[in-house]
Amino acid sequence: MVARATPSAGDLAPDTLPRVRTIVVQHPLVDHKLTTLRDETTDSATFRLLVEELVTLLAYEATQQLRTTSVTITTPVAQTTGVHLSWPRPLIVPILRAGLGMLEGMMRLLPTAEVGFLGMVRDDDSLIASTYADRIPHDLDSRQVFVLDPMLATGGTLVTAIDLLLARGASDVTAIVLLAAPEGLQHVEEAYTDKPVDVTIVTAGLDLRLNEVGYIVPGLGDAGDRLYGVV
Ligand code: URA
Repeated sequence: MVARATPSAGDLAPDTLPRVRTIVVQHPLVDHKLTTLRDETTDSATFRLLVEELVTLLAYEATQQLRTTSVTITTPVAQTTGVHLSWPRPLIVPILRAGLGMLEGMMRLLPTAEVGFLGMVRDDDSLIASTYADRIPHDLDSRQVFVLDPMLATGGTLVTAIDLLLARGASDVTAIVLLAAPEGLQHVEEAYTDKPVDVTIVTAGLDLRLNEVGYIVPGLGDAGDRLYGVV
């Protein structure tokens, strides 16, 4: 799987390390599934299935930096060393409502992770995000956190969510999104560039722009509606 990323740590002097990394995953299966998701004729049942499959592929890239601990085990043949995922376990945070459609695909790859929930809604006129449900542990000291939200549009929802996670002690935050708009990426980069935090965004596609009502162009429409029907 090819991932196009902003410069890697090895390329830069320590004081110029980027605090926000964006990884656009490039793979024929990712592109194929994304194209079917974008298609307005794709029905909700197929859409949900494809989102799960796509997230599992993105999760493979997004978990590259998971912390591990060396262990010694005995195979049927000999003793050897390997690794287990470190403690504390990673935390997965789907942002309700649409992020819920990504949870199953993520848990398939990380079944031992814990899950917290954030309910956030974007005001249709101001496009400002507000939090209506917070089921996140109060102490996230040293936790690696994976936020799931299909659409990185203005970036307002994601920045509000990441601020909350960092305020509770998360050591690093990786957001997995299906599609990102340049405006949203810029918002996230500006929010964390000068802060001592590590934020990574992993996406299947970087689209052209936002339209006048804050939708990603060409995008895939309202992800929540496509997953669950219009409220
Ligand atoms: N949220 C969506 O569901 N779709 C967009 O295009 C932008 C925000």
